[in-house]
Amino acid sequence: MVDVATRPVSRPAFRLGRRARKVTLLTHIAAAGAWLGIDVVLGVMVGTALVTGDAQQAGVALQSLGVFAVWPLIVVGLLCLASGILLGGGSTYGLLRYWWVAIKLVLNVALVVLVLVLLRPQVGEVSEAARASLLAATGPPAVGDLVFPPLVSGTVVLVAMALSVFKPWGTIRRGGWAPVTPQVRNAGGSDSAAAIGSPAARVREPFPG
Ligand code: HEM
Repeated sequence: MVDVATRPVSRPAFRLGRRARKVTLLTHIAAAGAWLGIDVVLGVMVGTALVTGDAQQAGVALQSLGVFAVWPLIVVGLLCLASGILLGGGSTYGLLRYWWVAIKLVLNVALVVLVLVLLRPQVGEVSEAARASLLAATGPPAVGDLVFPPLVSGTVVLVAMALSVFKPWGTIRRGGWAPVTPQVRNAGGSDSAAAIGSPAARVREPFPG
């Protein structure tokens, strides 16, 4: 068995200084939080349109989706992706070395693509129909499949947050899953910072500099 403390640790693709890393991490966490917040507001607006008996309130809720639901989501999604790539690429976490990072990368890209390809046209259509219904004082358009984006996106973002905090499953190795030992988990965890000072911790520390 390879001793985790002595096994070779490949170098990061580039280095982030401590301050730059902290600013990047702050940006990343803020973007993730804003992302979840937009999903919650999206859910509240769609839910309001579904349950309210007031046609005008439903129309206003659906029209407002066109303002905050699409571009803000794309901006926070891309910000989260870019800062995540900096955090991973600028440390020995890498982008494709640990399951929790690689899975977040896939989830992040998939969500941004879904917003562009599915949510954008759907929201545009419903928001425009809601505006017309308000002008004509008729009933609001049907919410349709718009109940799913806040549920799916909110759940996926929460899963990504949980992956970031628990950092499960250890490293990706060719030929299968790496055994999840406490040492392997600590090798990728920011908790290892607590052990800085020992030679082993210096090898394991994921973000040098
Ligand atoms: C779905 C979008 C994402 C969400 C919601 C998310 C959430 C988070 C959160 C909340 C943290 C802070 C964890 C902590 O300090 O304990 C974090 C850290 C981190 N994330 Fe993300 N993230 C996402 C996407 C990504 C992507 C795409 C990557 C890289 C490809 C990435 C790589 C990282 C790395 C390397 C850290 C640093 C962990 C540390 O220093 O302890 N994240 N992420």
